[in-house]
Amino acid sequence: MKIVHTIKDLQADLSALKAQGKRVGLVPTMGALHAGHASLVKRCVAENDVTVVSIFVNPTQFNDKNDLAKYPRSLEADCELLEACGATFAFAPSVEEMYPQPDTRRFSYPPLDTVMEGKYRPGHFNGVCQVVSKLFDIVKPQRAYFGEKDFQQLAIVREMVRQLRLPVEIVGCPEVREESGLALSSRNARLSDGERQDAARISQILFASRPYAKEHTVEETKRFVEQGIAAVPGLRLEYFEIVDGNTLQAIADWHDTSYAVGCVTVYCGEVRLIDHIDY
Ligand code: PAF
Repeated sequence: MKIVHTIKDLQADLSALKAQGKRVGLVPTMGALHAGHASLVKRCVAENDVTVVSIFVNPTQFNDKNDLAKYPRSLEADCELLEACGATFAFAPSVEEMYPQPDTRRFSYPPLDTVMEGKYRPGHFNGVCQVVSKLFDIVKPQRAYFGEKDFQQLAIVREMVRQLRLPVEIVGCPEVREESGLALSSRNARLSDGERQDAARISQILFASRPYAKEHTVEETKRFVEQGIAAVPGLRLEYFEIVDGNTLQAIADWHDTSYAVGCVTVYCGEVRLIDHIDY
């Protein structure tokens, strides 16, 4: 695997490979890689001739400076994992390389980006679309791989690709969990052992809400999850919404959709964690 830091070097290598007819897949990441990322990379390797994994902690998607400063960074370990997964390139540019001038483009996909994470993290999805569209432009992949863990992000990236008619196929890959049920996230690296146990309760409560939902209303199911999380002293709920999985709009009745998804954001100590479940 080759580690590349500049757009020019990456594009020089890629154009030689594309000239040989090689198909290129891209896995955008912010590093601090874990088994969830590994599953994306392995799928990309299996489905394409060339796999580019970008490792870039994108400042424009952080609305909280403290969160950006504390975001875990581990380039050396990341490259070892990527090598083991069979990636072709790790693309790890600097902030100056990606943003030589401020990116003044604005991306807005209401109502997908006005709810949930969009409401609590203003500007977040604008930053995600800025960097993802730049990466698509730099790499020009045939396919790009995103985790379903970031459920709302995946819906918005798909919408951006649809509206801008970008020539890339978006592949959504299933969420990966620890044995405890905790959804894998780079942010888990910041949890203490005690916090990790509290954090595992999030998915356990979500899973318990699935059979509960079969016998109860949307309202009652929301309360079940909210009260379950409130009962764990180490957790602080930001929101729990039950939405139509396509429009991301809150539903009032199970009959409002055939694809209901519960999306949750919870603080565990200082660490902000997201998860979701389909009903
Ligand atoms: O999901 C992430 O890690 C990031 O939001 C992404 C897609 C790599 C863009 O910075």
